[in-house]
Amino acid sequence: MIDGFEQVGGVHPGFRRNHAKGVCISGSFESNGQGVSWSRAAAFAPGQMPVVGRFSLGGGNPQMPDEPTAVLAMGLSLRPPGGEEWRMAMIHLPVFVVKDVQGFYEQLLASKPDPATGKPDPSKLAAFAAAHPEFVRTMQVIKDGPSPSGFATANYNSLNTFRFVNAAGAGVPVRWSMVASVASAPAAPEQGKSPDKSYLFDDVIARLARGPLQWHLIVTLAQPGDVTNDPTVPWPADREHVDVGTLTINRAETEAPGNCRDVVFDPLVLPWGIEPSDDPMLSARSATYSESFRRREGERKTPSAIQVPVAGRGS
Ligand code: HEM
Repeated sequence: MIDGFEQVGGVHPGFRRNHAKGVCISGSFESNGQGVSWSRAAAFAPGQMPVVGRFSLGGGNPQMPDEPTAVLAMGLSLRPPGGEEWRMAMIHLPVFVVKDVQGFYEQLLASKPDPATGKPDPSKLAAFAAAHPEFVRTMQVIKDGPSPSGFATANYNSLNTFRFVNAAGAGVPVRWSMVASVASAPAAPEQGKSPDKSYLFDDVIARLARGPLQWHLIVTLAQPGDVTNDPTVPWPADREHVDVGTLTINRAETEAPGNCRDVVFDPLVLPWGIEPSDDPMLSARSATYSESFRRREGERKTPSAIQVPVAGRGS
């Protein structure tokens, strides 16, 4: 999988093999105590804890230009007192585009730019789509929905299913989303024409310089029979949603030692009270993130494309 990312996105020493272009963020998570009914995780005890995170774009090129079709991502590490850390890696898409890791690998190779045109070979993409009917369905869902105008207004989704276990040992499958407090404005068509190749990052850095940004952590509880092993299948809209707390991001920082740079936002770094579901994509993700981390940690670091001015800090 990682060789595939390198083949398509190139080898960029020191950078993540996917979601290579990014910026570090930090702030806090304030739990309101509502999550305690479903999970005994320390992060759900009422109170505040520090958070380290990262905004990024999907793709292996750390210099890729920002564009309206980019996949916006948020990696987070919640650090409650006592060390029961909870890491997550979420994206803005409402569903994942393929149902398993093999499909993701094949999609990656099919979308490799043809050196002659600089664009993916349409015949390879068509062959991939024909072999993956779920890709055709999920791309339609994504096209029918609004694209977010930026990192600050996007909602970020776990997509894969996890399992919450409470103090009595009762478990329930869950998915979660960070839902932006700023009303989600759809992207304006002129955004993609910006001469600024990092307009999405520059926007969120400028907003953080003016003040903090917030998201609500909304947990969705499954009903018996809901699909737990396939992130391309959305759950019915009437499932119970619980607001368990507020994420406040108040600072953006250039990737550097000691901040998000050397963190791997592995979705299986989970605290007691949150477990993987039966979705095999989770262990595939974990293994792939580890291999990316292993390679990039052993390389000389080159400066990130996203440089945050020291004044670019919220309060
Ligand atoms: C089989 C499917 C997937 C594979 C193979 C994969 C692979 C990767 C890899 C290699 C990285 C870089 C890790 C590092 O060096 O730190 C990464 C980062 C990331 N992935 Fe995935 N991914 C998959 C699915 C997903 C899904 C379903 C989501 C979201 C729901 C997601 C969200 C993210 C995010 C947010 C990051 C950036 C984390 C950071 O800023 O360090 N990925 N992914």
